[in-house]
Amino acid sequence: MTSNQRRPLIAGNWKMNLDLAGAKALVAGIQEAASRADGVETVIAPPFTSLAVVAQAVKGTKIRCASQNVHWAENGAFTGECAAASLKELGVESAIIGHSERRQHFGETDKSVHDRLGAALKAGLLPIVCIGESLDEREAQETWRVLETQMKGALEGFAPTDLSVLVIAYEPVWAIGTGKVATPAQAQEAHLFIRKKVASLYSEELATGLRILYGGSVKPDNVDELMSQPDVDGALVGGASLKADGFSRIIGFQVPAAS
Ligand code: PGA
Repeated sequence: MTSNQRRPLIAGNWKMNLDLAGAKALVAGIQEAASRADGVETVIAPPFTSLAVVAQAVKGTKIRCASQNVHWAENGAFTGECAAASLKELGVESAIIGHSERRQHFGETDKSVHDRLGAALKAGLLPIVCIGESLDEREAQETWRVLETQMKGALEGFAPTDLSVLVIAYEPVWAIGTGKVATPAQAQEAHLFIRKKVASLYSEELATGLRILYGGSVKPDNVDELMSQPDVDGALVGGASLKADGFSRIIGFQVPAAS
């Protein structure tokens, strides 16, 4: 399988933003771009509070709805959490897992990421597992160690066949919400590292089919160059996914034909 056979995925992470009216307006505003972008998969992840409305609004369209988290248990005494089955019931088809904001502010660990991934896989939710190093870690030359630890922790014990739908988002923490995007070369280097690691931990087949998204200050004016990298299969977009025009441009990214 070549990179051309990995279907590009553009995901918008709305984080804790937008009221119901704003959510509906944004869905309406990106509808055309999503239906025009041939071969591109578009996913949006609204906050839990607007999931039902957004899942309903995207029904029958090319846009898929994701949650920003999912709990590992089927149900129970887990105040503030949300079970995979409840998400599925709303029409949610995907889940972001282990976002760095969850790791930084809410005590998410590699173990909890692993367990959440298990629940998503079991429920048939397309899992988007986030990994990435902090600025201190990058400056201390620890990027590869961090990525490897996070990956191993999240994926440990799953069979390659379980992971065939897995999506990994490489999101360097220093690039998230800072306007400091990784250079296309930095993104490519990290994505290639991740792919090679998956090949050595699992199989060549899983690695070549694995979609790896880049996240961290993706904008309409840098998406084309990022998407031109052979191992960048999509983007996880925060701030720029909140504006219909900008996100539409990102969904419709243009990769110059190879010369
Ligand atoms: P950003 O966020 O695009 O605002 O940097 C990306 C993310 O957190 O997924």
